[in-house]
Amino acid sequence: MFIKYYYLIPVLALALLSAFLFDQKPAGDKALGTRKYDDFQPPKLCSSCHQDIYQQWTQAMMSQAYTHHWDEIEYFKLAVPHAEKDPVVAGVKAGCNGCHAPLAFLAGDIPPPPPAKMSRANESVSCDLCHTIVGFEGDVPYNFNWIVEPGRKKQGSRGAKSSPEHDLVKSDFLATAEFCGTCHNEKSPYGVWVKATHLEWKEGPYARQGVRCHDCHMTYAEGKSAIMGATYPDVRQHLFHGAHDPGKVRGTIELRIHPNVREAEPGETIKLTLVLFNQKTGHAFPTGSVEDRLVWLHVEAIDSKGNRYHLPVDKKGFPGEEYTIASDELAYQDMGIALGDPNFPGLPRDGVPKGDRIYRQAYLDPQGRMTIQQWNTKSFGVDYRLGPRQSLIETFTFTIPANCPPGPLRVRAVLNYQKLVKPVADFLGVPAEESEIIIVNDHETVITILP
Ligand code: HEC
Ligand code: HEC
Ligand code: HEC
Ligand code: HEC
Ligand code: HEC
Repeated sequence: MFIKYYYLIPVLALALLSAFLFDQKPAGDKALGTRKYDDFQPPKLCSSCHQDIYQQWTQAMMSQAYTHHWDEIEYFKLAVPHAEKDPVVAGVKAGCNGCHAPLAFLAGDIPPPPPAKMSRANESVSCDLCHTIVGFEGDVPYNFNWIVEPGRKKQGSRGAKSSPEHDLVKSDFLATAEFCGTCHNEKSPYGVWVKATHLEWKEGPYARQGVRCHDCHMTYAEGKSAIMGATYPDVRQHLFHGAHDPGKVRGTIELRIHPNVREAEPGETIKLTLVLFNQKTGHAFPTGSVEDRLVWLHVEAIDSKGNRYHLPVDKKGFPGEEYTIASDELAYQDMGIALGDPNFPGLPRDGVPKGDRIYRQAYLDPQGRMTIQQWNTKSFGVDYRLGPRQSLIETFTFTIPANCPPGPLRVRAVLNYQKLVKPVADFLGVPAEESEIIIVNDHETVITILP
């Protein structure tokens, strides 16, 4: 009888051990419901001593990851109803919160109360969450696979003298790009990388030179990190400025356009060549929420009488190029699933002048249609974005109109940026600021039209 259960001992021991390990270090999906809200201190508490850092954080998107209007709309109008109808994506009902409302996710408060209820889900990516993350599970950071150990002990950059409020330890992990990658890389339920900011960075020139996310998004400046603390030459500024800071976006790409001839006659065909150079980003441009973003190049010629001629980009002929040239195609039909309208015809894919070049990666749903729902993405059409320090060339063939007046013909190229494709923003009632047009850069060249 005794002997009979003997063989179970190692099995039980193993189960206990793994339960113990599991309890200690749940990460990613497994961390759902493993903590309480009260395990974490609210940002307001940190603000009394860390005033500047607190105020910087309140202006950064990570303090609004749950409350920001577009996040609320996409989660409640699209993701939750979609998850309730389609078993493949059912996990996102909880999973979106792993990155956007991590405290609610850890507390198992799913779906969290809407932002207007002012619950602790609204703390979004909070001070205490980041400062109690001790590492991540596995080899690749993605899908909130960070490991968090809330408590008195805060992970910091220098292991300063502890304050009455907390114990401090120096964290090497917080200083790595992998820390950011735990939320800035995302794999869809179909197993494709729908967010890959850290992976793009890792393959690029900045990683090779040791320039991390922090060096561009959390820059160092002399000052104090706490009002009663020491002065340091290199206090980490919690700016986290990105797509929502027009100043950060401006100048990211540089443009230079030149003609093949400086003088031409009406009726003559000329060629213009434009070089784009990604000068500023450590990853692709655009990155992150690539499914939402639109970057497009608009080129116009303006003659001496002020008449304007739109120059469509020359086709290059690569596979999937159709996604990179603005057209009046419809797309985003898969929103119909969440909206309860299986025959939803879709919305204009681009909403920008036809023939303009678009820099994007096409996200495709299981039926092969373009989608802005990254969780419903099964494959990609084409990746035509600007990698870090990459240059791309575009050409424009232009036949000068027969009635073009003599004098200077100015050719102006403008690179525009929009956080959310306008037809989608308008349809879902997303406030206009999310689809405002930001000019990334422009350049002009002049040709003389002979009489
Ligand atoms: C716990 C998850 C998490 C971690 C860790 C994290 N982020 Fe974020 N981050 C987010 C989420 C979610 C958003 C999107 C906020 C929103 O809804 O617009 C975001 C937004 C941002 C933005 C703003 C983008 C914009 O649209 O303006 C920047 C910049 C950024 N993060 C940088 C970083 C850096 C640098 C690190 C590492 C030091 C980091 N993040 C670590 C979750 C995280
Ligand atoms: C009563 C004041 C007080 C409060 C409240 C407070 N801190 Fe601090 N904190 C300090 C002081 C003092 C330092 C040391 C500053 C220095 O290095 O001179 C510090 C340092 C830190 C550091 C840097 C550690 C390092 O080694 O670099 C982190 C991280 C930190 N605090 C996080 C937090 C978080 C998160 C909260 C809120 C949950 C918080 N603090 C609340 C006083 C406070
Ligand atoms: C060499 C500087 C540099 C480095 C390194 C860098 N970034 Fe950026 N990042 C930028 C600039 C400039 C922008 C603004 C243009 C844009 O939106 O892409 C930006 C934008 C972003 C955005 C918003 C993108 C969007 O379109 O919504 C996020 C998120 C972000 N960075 C996160 C990161 C993370 C995470 C890392 C590290 C893995 C990182 N960045 C490394 C310069 C950098
Ligand atoms: C997205 C994650 C994230 C959030 C949110 C965040 N921090 Fe930090 N914080 C960091 C990282 C990363 C570092 C240091 C990185 C390094 O060592 O280079 C840091 C550094 C610090 C430091 C030390 C600064 C220094 O140079 O001595 C303090 C203090 C601090 N944070 C407090 C706060 C407080 C208070 C909040 C909320 C108002 C907050 N942090 C929100 C990631 C975060
Ligand atoms: C692995 C972490 C992660 C998961 C899971 C995740 N997000 Fe995000 N989300 C981010 C990050 C990081 C950004 C910011 C990227 C950027 O700025 O380019 C972001 C950006 C967004 C934005 C765009 C914000 C803007 O300002 O343009 C929306 C909306 C959004 N997420 C909704 C969702 C929904 C809905 C889900 C679930 C279906 C989800 N997210 C799942 C990390 C995540």
